[in-house]
Amino acid sequence: TQKSTLKIEDETHKTDEWTNTPDTILSHVGRRLYLDENHPLAITRQLIESQFTGPDFGNYSEKNPVVSTKNNFDVLGFPEDHPGRSRTDTYYVNDKTVLRTHTSAHQRAYFQQISRNEKTRPDEVGYTIIADVYRRDAIDRSHYPVFHQMEAARLWKRPDTNPLAASKETTAMIMADLEKLPSHDVVVEDPNPTLHDQRNPLQDKHHSVEEVEAVAAHLKRSLELMVIKIFTEASKAASKGGAEVEPLKVRWIEAYFPFTSPSWELEVFWQGDWLEILGCGVIKQDLLINSDVPNRMGWAFGLGLERIAMLLFNIPDIRLFWSKDARFLSQFRAGEITRFEPFSKHPACYKDVAFWLPPAAVTGGSAAGGAVPFHENDVMEIVRGIGGDLVEDVTLIDEFTHPKTARKSMCYRINYRSLERTLTNEESNELNLKVREKLVEELGVELR
Ligand code: PHE
Repeated sequence: TQKSTLKIEDETHKTDEWTNTPDTILSHVGRRLYLDENHPLAITRQLIESQFTGPDFGNYSEKNPVVSTKNNFDVLGFPEDHPGRSRTDTYYVNDKTVLRTHTSAHQRAYFQQISRNEKTRPDEVGYTIIADVYRRDAIDRSHYPVFHQMEAARLWKRPDTNPLAASKETTAMIMADLEKLPSHDVVVEDPNPTLHDQRNPLQDKHHSVEEVEAVAAHLKRSLELMVIKIFTEASKAASKGGAEVEPLKVRWIEAYFPFTSPSWELEVFWQGDWLEILGCGVIKQDLLINSDVPNRMGWAFGLGLERIAMLLFNIPDIRLFWSKDARFLSQFRAGEITRFEPFSKHPACYKDVAFWLPPAAVTGGSAAGGAVPFHENDVMEIVRGIGGDLVEDVTLIDEFTHPKTARKSMCYRINYRSLERTLTNEESNELNLKVREKLVEELGVELR
């Protein structure tokens, strides 16, 4: 049933045995919600961009989500066996191209652009990129297969071709830029040293400790100022809405990304929970060397826009961002953070689907001896393909292995609920029957 080509943004791509991108996903390409200036995602984008302005930063967007596996994974140093490369996690257009899973897929091109513009735009030493990204994932109120990321990087040009010899001057240059950033008085928890031999190593072939301390200090201050800006707005909006708002706290956690070292995540204490906001780090020098800027070093970060927009605007369900319903869209104005007023919540309709996995199927790990690996994301994809935005969430409610036959049984609960109208029981029954058929057809399960 697979088509021999896929047309995406006016380009035709051959399909092959890697292709797993359905039309229902492709129908989201080109909406460019982040450019609709009255849309909450665009308002959030502008709030973040306002922290990273010219001449240092150019603000860009990337329309076409089709990127090579090379740019999405290889040039960033993802190992061959990284789970992110698997067809259960990523939408493949074909064996060599995917729908980008993160905006980092464009890092190399933007570093090359900085190199190309060295003469004409010497001041532009950084960038922000906004784009839609795609991941096969669970279905619930905070996960959607298409979401938006914003990424930024800031580079410094080293005065000497021998980077370690230039360390003192580079450090002084970065510290001078740090001095230009405002300070703030928000409580920051940062318990770990900048560098840790095992967990967060120095790229010792390329960087001195002093330089990395300076880049890290500049990175941390820049990102603290950004989240303070965002969450001050969020607090204002929340307290207008009558919510009790605690003073802001942020903390730095050690992290790992294949393309940065050392790396961190920034978390914010918001309404009783620590929320992970972004990932960041000191860019791997090998990547910069491969991207025509061997004599520069710097930092990068990336964040998910929906997560932030949901709490800024008090939006309870991620599907709403895609709504064309005026009752949603008319609530937002460019440059304003307003609290979303839900338009009546329609009733939920729960359907349970229980099935035996095929005898040879294994969960987790890799398939051995011809066994078909079972991955929950394949169930999600089937439900998404049939129910689309009418499914609010899917949860595994039971799982057991038969003691005699060793067969495995799974039971998922699907919550059908439209954001816009009341679904009839017949309608959700019909959808659910189709889901059941497709599970048998595609995953070879036996319904119970
Ligand atoms: N691309 C990373 C992600 O999707 C985030 C990131 C961007 C981390 C840039 C470090 C530097 O999780």
